[in-house]
Amino acid sequence: MQRRLRLGMVGGGQGAFIGAVHRLAARIDDCYELVAGALSADPDRAAASAAAARIDPLRSYADYHTMAQAEAEREDGIDVVAIVTPNHLHAPVATAFLEAGIHVICDKPLAISLQEGLELQRLARLHNKVFALTHTYSGYPMVRHAREMVTSGGLGDIRVIQVEYAQDWLSEPLELAGSKQAGWRADPQRAGPAGCLGDIGTHAYHLASYVSGMQPTRIAAELHTFVPGRQLDDHVQAMLRYANGARGMLWASQVAAGEENALKLRVYGTKAGLAFDQQNPNELLVTPLAGETRRITRGRAQSEAAAHATRVPPGHPEGYLEAFAQLYQDAALQILAVDAGLPLPPESSFLTTVEDGVRGMQFIDAVLRSHRNDSQWTALTS
Ligand SMILES: NC(=O)c1ccc[n+]([C@@H]2O[C@H](COP(=O)([O-])OP(=O)(O)OC[C@H]3O[C@@H](n4cnc5c(N)ncnc54)[C@H](O)[C@@H]3O)[C@@H](O)[C@H]2O)c1
Repeated sequence: MQRRLRLGMVGGGQGAFIGAVHRLAARIDDCYELVAGALSADPDRAAASAAAARIDPLRSYADYHTMAQAEAEREDGIDVVAIVTPNHLHAPVATAFLEAGIHVICDKPLAISLQEGLELQRLARLHNKVFALTHTYSGYPMVRHAREMVTSGGLGDIRVIQVEYAQDWLSEPLELAGSKQAGWRADPQRAGPAGCLGDIGTHAYHLASYVSGMQPTRIAAELHTFVPGRQLDDHVQAMLRYANGARGMLWASQVAAGEENALKLRVYGTKAGLAFDQQNPNELLVTPLAGETRRITRGRAQSEAAAHATRVPPGHPEGYLEAFAQLYQDAALQILAVDAGLPLPPESSFLTTVEDGVRGMQFIDAVLRSHRNDSQWTALTS
């Protein structure tokens, strides 16, 4: 890797959640330096947040349009922008930077509609820019190992996929109590038409697709809102049908009392089954038919995919931040290759991109249509 990439950030000001995680992730493998930002919609907060992040005041911008233009004109302008705003701004901000010739690392969900997502995919291809989407959990070594295991036929033909993502932090109407994070998540103007569905349902969907390598063709789904007065869903349950005959179920809820961040995946094939639990990410359980359960730990996984996503020796836990850093490392490998006119490095091929984001939007779109139609079986639109 020749040099650190110059990183800009939109969103992630003081009091924000995921922007700070991105800043840590970008530093773990020393591939980036944060040099510019439009960190908040409020100009004073943007300036104060930039100072706290040690960004040169001349490169702290009051709005993202000015930032995209000014950075594109500088000889030492940013190589890539991280987008960590509420969902409704993902598409407009990404569009501004792609059109300015700047690579994008965007948080999920990709956009607030399938049309927006498809347009971003078109723009990224048109401008030949890397567009990484931070589905964090795809950075875990054991998730990548699981994916490789499925791809190489270790489970046989896939029959059943069960994925769930349960949290309890929206069990009360926090959006009415001044919570910044709950406020926009419960507001259709800023979250889009999907509440829990867009926020964590897409993570569950992505994990299931990422590991199995399969997208469902039809979905029957129900959304529900448990908290009185809340404008968007806080619970989703869906049945999934796959082209090869496999069946799946997806459940995501933000009102599951006692649950913190319980993202769990099980995949069953004709030869074996596997289980991954996000809250215990350094291990993967694999059980062959009529055999004993193997507990495969990070660092002993014997796969290139897991080794590439591992930093410290077996027995020293890695976790959420390292998974996030893995996406940043893979994005850096791709950005350097694209800018040098070289093929993408094979070891970066596990990166989650705008194409995955479009599939996530197809999932949201189908769930919304099914729900509105009394949970009828609904085809995913391509
Ligand atoms: N990958 C993950 O695991 C993960 C986890 C949490 C959130 N997210 C995603 O990250 C995004 C942000 O979520 P959050 O929880 O950090 O939200 P947040 O409310 O904590 O932060 C949003 C930030 O965006 C800023 N912002 C709003 N409008 C802006 C504008 N016009 N210009 C510049 N900044 C602006 C806000 O001031 C704030 O600093 C969401 O899309 C969410 O889905 C992803």
